Amino acid sequence: MLKLPGLIDPHVHVREPGATHKEDWDTVTQAALAGGVTTILAMPNTKPPIFDEATLNLALDAAKAKARCDYGQYIGAGPDNGDWDKREALSLQAAGLKMYLDSTFGELRLDDMSLWTPHFQKFPKDSPMVMHSESRTMAAAILFSTIYDHPVHIAHVSLKEEILLIKAAKEKGIKVTCEVCPHHLFLDKDLTGFKNLSGLTSGRTEVRPRLATPEDVQSLWINLDVIDCFATDHAPHTLEEKDSDNPPPGFPGLETMLPLLLTAVDEGRLTINHLIEKLHTNPKRIFNLPDQPETWVEVDENASYEIKASETFTRCGWTPFEGWQVKGKVRKVVLRGKTAFEDGKILAEPGCGKNIRS
Ligand code: DOR
Ligand code: ZN
Repeated sequence: MLKLPGLIDPHVHVREPGATHKEDWDTVTQAALAGGVTTILAMPNTKPPIFDEATLNLALDAAKAKARCDYGQYIGAGPDNGDWDKREALSLQAAGLKMYLDSTFGELRLDDMSLWTPHFQKFPKDSPMVMHSESRTMAAAILFSTIYDHPVHIAHVSLKEEILLIKAAKEKGIKVTCEVCPHHLFLDKDLTGFKNLSGLTSGRTEVRPRLATPEDVQSLWINLDVIDCFATDHAPHTLEEKDSDNPPPGFPGLETMLPLLLTAVDEGRLTINHLIEKLHTNPKRIFNLPDQPETWVEVDENASYEIKASETFTRCGWTPFEGWQVKGKVRKVVLRGKTAFEDGKILAEPGCGKNIRS
């Protein structure tokens, strides 16, 4: 039996408020616990988006009532809410600021670079700023970070040019950190990794950033040392929506991240120390998270099983990793001294999760 610290996922789309038919604070935290994750940080592209006190409270009230693991809620950078100097208390209640510099699901995109400036100038210096920025906007975000002297965390790095740029920036001493998602490590645009190709609709491969080339995937594995965190970008949409004519981008990931990574450990592509560093130590430091005393995850590292959406807790009802044979099963999760998950059953009650900023 392998004992791990409570895992931290800094990139989760909860869907509440606004789209609870896909997921809500109850189901997403059940999925988290089943995946060995004891803290999630929730993205602000909900309906309505989270960008001020009233909307932040909408999300936090739902989380307080329903969450079964610990959580934080990001606030979104909008065109009109850059006056953080006047609203410092609000900024400190959030897990951090999320800036959408590229198109994505939802309405939080900041198209104009002049809209970025107040956020870089005024968001508290030691509070996390997370960028959805791909390729050139990532380069621009790193430049802004140096000009305004604010550390940035780059979400879901997927391309060779991106990981190499981050590596070079780190070598120059620039305060940039980054995360990579399992789907960008295990799947690619040539559909490597998808099983049952005849039943695969194009919607089920849609995700932002898009799946990349095998060369990009390989560059992420070669540059593991540049990757600070693994994060799921858990983005549940129902199968009906994914198979529709206008499929929204995104994959669920909370319940598949750890078994996929443990399988890579078994194959010698990663070490357990990499897992602990990128799923606990680094995210805890980067996002200023409190200790979770008496919290751990027990994993049977020799248990092999097949990933099946029918056995997951997420409400969205599918996974791009359907049919994968993995090695490493979460047996038990203890959160603050109480067993929260054991042998496939959720034992934590709704509302027992704590806000990491309170
Ligand atoms: O694939 C994605 N889905 N990428 C994003 O940036 C947003 C996410 C979502 O919210 O569905
Ligand atoms: Zn996301």
